[in-house]
Amino acid sequence: MDFYEVIKTAGTARYYKEDPIPDDVLTRVLDAARWAPQGGNRQPNRYVVVRDPAKKQALRELYFPLWRNYLEAAGVGEIAIRGNAIPKLLKDADIFADNFHKVPVIVVVCAHMEDIHPTDLELERDPIVYGASVYPAVQNMLLAARAEGLGGSLTTLLCAEEPKVKALLNIPDGYATAAHVALGYLSVPFPSKLTRLPLTDVVFSEEFGTPMYTAE
Ligand SMILES: Cc1cc2nc3c(=O)[nH]c(=O)nc-3n(C[C@H](O)[C@H](O)[C@H](O)COP(=O)(O)O)c2cc1C
Repeated sequence: MDFYEVIKTAGTARYYKEDPIPDDVLTRVLDAARWAPQGGNRQPNRYVVVRDPAKKQALRELYFPLWRNYLEAAGVGEIAIRGNAIPKLLKDADIFADNFHKVPVIVVVCAHMEDIHPTDLELERDPIVYGASVYPAVQNMLLAARAEGLGGSLTTLLCAEEPKVKALLNIPDGYATAAHVALGYLSVPFPSKLTRLPLTDVVFSEEFGTPMYTAE
């Protein structure tokens, strides 16, 4: 597949077939993750591949109430969601949450916190650099999945239940759960176009606010 086609059509998958992912395909997807850059090349990420139905069911029982709280907050405007298809997004995500346990693979992304060196701790805002050594690998995984014809979803809601997830999967002290990535073949077509802001709105030249591109 063309590289840019992969990027532009790797949307968040909500509807999965229950067919298993062949081992060689899954291996290539996981292998893609480890080539991502990390601060100091300290390689903090570890991945727990969950395929066991009982474990996936347990994850679903933890995920679903978190999702429903989010849905409620989104419904009353406490959490902002962008776009012109919000009801569809929420409906799709609700069905995804209900069927979380049926997704063939859930990859729990674990980060060894000692190997993360955030460079923005002294600023008067919440740090954002913590995730910078972790999520490039997740995106590698998602793009590799798309190139292999698999759908994928990056989720972080379940991170709120980290102690329970760590107990379920025997994740040692010192590791944080950074994401839960769903992977599987889709039961619907891939999106042909994701909803994103145009280049004219997001790229500036030399100083913030001076557009680098103009709309055609
Ligand atoms: C950091 C992050 C966390 C996310 N967490 C969740 C989640 O917990 N549950 C979920 O259903 N989707 C989650 N998503 C998916 C987003 O809702 C999705 O990327 C967004 O709606 C855009 O959809 P699209 O990529 O299909 O265009 C997350 C995405 C990101 C980048």
